Amino acid sequence: MERNVIILAAGKSKRMKSKTGKVMHKILGKEVVRYMVDLSENLGSTNNVLVLNQEGEAVKKALQDKALRFATQEPQLGTGHALQCALDQLEEGPTLILMGDTPCIKEETLRALFDFHEAQGNALTVLTVEMSDPFNYGRILRSGDQVRGIREHRDCTETELAIKEINSGVFLLDRAYLHKYLPKLKNDNAQQEYYATDLIMLLSEDGEKVGAFKIFDEEQILGINSREQLWQATKVLQQRINQKWMQEGVTMLQPESIFIDATVTLGQDVTLLPGVILEGNCFIDEDSVIGPNVHMVDCTVGKACTVENSTMYHSSVGDHSTVGPFAYMRPGSMVGAHCKVGDFVEVKNSTMGDNTKVSHLSYIGDADVGANVNIGCGVVFVNYDGRNKFRTTVEDNAFVGCNVNLVAPVTVKKGAYVAAGTTVTDDVPEEALAIGRARASIKEGWAKGKNKKAK
Ligand code: UD1
Ligand code: CA
Repeated sequence: MERNVIILAAGKSKRMKSKTGKVMHKILGKEVVRYMVDLSENLGSTNNVLVLNQEGEAVKKALQDKALRFATQEPQLGTGHALQCALDQLEEGPTLILMGDTPCIKEETLRALFDFHEAQGNALTVLTVEMSDPFNYGRILRSGDQVRGIREHRDCTETELAIKEINSGVFLLDRAYLHKYLPKLKNDNAQQEYYATDLIMLLSEDGEKVGAFKIFDEEQILGINSREQLWQATKVLQQRINQKWMQEGVTMLQPESIFIDATVTLGQDVTLLPGVILEGNCFIDEDSVIGPNVHMVDCTVGKACTVENSTMYHSSVGDHSTVGPFAYMRPGSMVGAHCKVGDFVEVKNSTMGDNTKVSHLSYIGDADVGANVNIGCGVVFVNYDGRNKFRTTVEDNAFVGCNVNLVAPVTVKKGAYVAAGTTVTDDVPEEALAIGRARASIKEGWAKGKNKKAK
């Protein structure tokens, strides 16, 4: 069906006190305005028009992957004026108006709105809700089923302020009505703006049928004008995602503290402990335990792994591996199965074969480490000479002792040993031992007397 959606996003977002317009703020990895565009697409709209101000370039860029028409509103003289700016981008037919800042509305609600609108034969239908605290929202003025008008909070009388039914900002009407009534809007109100909401009064006065589709789930209507409301919307969307994963068989110890982007995939019997943030394209396979306090961006974790108190970016670990506590895996770290990336270990741009263990306090940078390798405590892969980065290779079955420096480029070949305290600058052949350490000399009795003084 031919159908227009207009998304209003040209406002200045003053109440956000931000350098970024409110519709570009992200909730769980997705810009607020993208929620609105995704909704329109899922509804099967054939023509989506986004109204932006003249600083809308960042929004256009962020939505490059979307088929959208844009309208510019400059200056911003109100939501009614914004619609006027979009008018010539519309096709004939039903037009759904959405505010750009209401990402919690559900697709099924909008589908039901379309059905209601048709069944009632309305000229205009507005989506409304009973709000426990209607502060700042436009109030619905009714005569029975007919909606006579919407009064903005600032323009309300005492009696009108007591009305709990409020305007969601979602309207459905034919383009022809917009064409006819938008030019008639006036700005004689507290904000001296042209209000979209006054369309209702104009149609109603002309005897057109204006109805309200009322829902009872106030969280769907939440508009984001301030940081506080941004947080409220985050809670709503976070809860929806977390509930979905619990229904799919994921255990969460404290869901309020767990933030999962819509792009993340979790396997059955995964357990998420408090303080887990999973962003971007993360995939956690079955039976893994993640947390407490884990931050991951674009990472893959195999089956039955544990990741504890750690940060991982663009990295992967194979089945039955453990990460942390307090590990840092930086981009390009690909670790095999049955591995250990232990406490205070940093891995960057490196590969690691199966059964390899780096148990504590090491830096593995720009390295290819084979399978069955043991990296002792405090090993440093010295990858930087002040100008360039070089790679290190440690082949299968090698053993690197504690407190070793491997100065890249260098290779420790299969089955070789590097003794504790050694700085390696030349390749170590297969099954050889590299050892180089300053010998400690012993001064017998040297501390006698000193220990007493210390007391
Ligand atoms: C608006 C409604 C109010 C409703 C509430 C629901 C009007 C006059 N008021 O109020 O009845 O209860 O939404 O959330 O419509 N915008 C423009 N151009 C402008 C002004 C705003 O494009 O000149 C855009 C904003 O970017 C925003 C949307 O329209 O995405 C709503 O504007 P906002 O200032 O948030 O309106 P509210 O005061 O919340
Ligand atoms: Ca708003």
